[in-house]
Amino acid sequence: MNSPARVTSLLSAIRSVGADPRRGGYSRFTYSNADAELREWFVAEAARRSLDVEVDRNGAIWAWRAGPGGSLEDAVVTGSHLDSVPGGGQFDGPLGVASALAAVDLLDARGASFGRPLAVVVFGEEEGARFGQACLGSRLMTGDLSAETALNCRDIDGVSLADALNRSGIDPTRVGRDDEALGRIGAFVELHVEQGRGLIDLGQPVAIASSIIGHGLWRLTVVGEGNHAGATLMDHRRDPLVAAGAIVALVRDAAREVPDARATVGRIQPVPGGTNVIASRVEVWLDVRHPDDAQARNLVATILDRARRAAASEGCDVTLAEESYGSSVHFDATLRDRLATVLPEAPILKSGAGHDAGVLAEVVPTAMLFTRNPTGISHSPHEQIEESDAEAGAAALAEVLADLLAGQAGAAAAADPS
Ligand code: HGY
Ligand code: MN
Ligand code: MN
Repeated sequence: MNSPARVTSLLSAIRSVGADPRRGGYSRFTYSNADAELREWFVAEAARRSLDVEVDRNGAIWAWRAGPGGSLEDAVVTGSHLDSVPGGGQFDGPLGVASALAAVDLLDARGASFGRPLAVVVFGEEEGARFGQACLGSRLMTGDLSAETALNCRDIDGVSLADALNRSGIDPTRVGRDDEALGRIGAFVELHVEQGRGLIDLGQPVAIASSIIGHGLWRLTVVGEGNHAGATLMDHRRDPLVAAGAIVALVRDAAREVPDARATVGRIQPVPGGTNVIASRVEVWLDVRHPDDAQARNLVATILDRARRAAASEGCDVTLAEESYGSSVHFDATLRDRLATVLPEAPILKSGAGHDAGVLAEVVPTAMLFTRNPTGISHSPHEQIEESDAEAGAAALAEVLADLLAGQAGAAAAADPS
């Protein structure tokens, strides 16, 4: 048996994949060449660990270690995603995948008993950066997102998900809720880089997640009158980009009025987008989050009302379309507490970031671990991980998996046989 791979050495093998010289950081879009390289890396690392690999109907990759008698039922599943936001960090997603592979090594090195099947899974399009649907792959699997809606999603070049799947050798006519895959999952535990400062402030390397706040993506379309930048007098304009500028500021102001709310405009697309052209319309993407789903939606209603008034003062109109919404999630308390028994030092933290685990939590017992990020920054090249913390995260994941793989006789259950 080789010595257990170190998380950071696993990640160093893909350090150059999808690097984005223009934005900085990484732009690893689903079903792009970079994504294909990452998927090949994962499949090779899985094979190195004698894990049986299969790609499911929604494009997720599963690397299996069968349980007794070759069973795949009641499996302990871990993993995360490999896609990124534009100009994202090196660890959001891949840390969970690399930590899962390193945890398998640690389990094998100590001769852990696999009383249940184990799978490492890689979900596609968690960020929604290409097709606009957060957690697209896991939401297709659970049925939270319909195949029809997903297949009609298009990227910035107009390529549909259906076409992208076809080009990747995945049959788009088969995507959708996958009861067989769901039925095999006994417990899902995702490890993820912390996106925030909780562990920095608490001085701990690893945390357990309690919940994920509700998270929606909307698209505001501001319509004015396209025209010539030189021939159109200032008083004769209906400029949607001026209205959009006011909207960006009012989004921030409206969110500040609601405790615990977060609202962000991270992407604006003027059409046609010429330097010497007054735009005819502007697409403004809105990311709104709140622990209480009703409050998130109320905030969006407030933003729309104020946006319409701001647009009207520029002679423009505004329409709103919801692109995706993930309800706030509280992880399975029994599983969370079991992890806390295995990892008594680990604090319990809320997550402001969404995850595939938040989607699976609706249908199977699910938990999350976070590994400390010394900058607390994410969705940025400044996302960081210390090597010692990365190893502490993989070791914590291995302890949790060992406990769950031992079945009910696990350490945690034995410690608290109730
Ligand atoms: O946006 C999020 O919260 C996650 O990183 N996809
Ligand atoms: Mn992310
Ligand atoms: Mn992520």
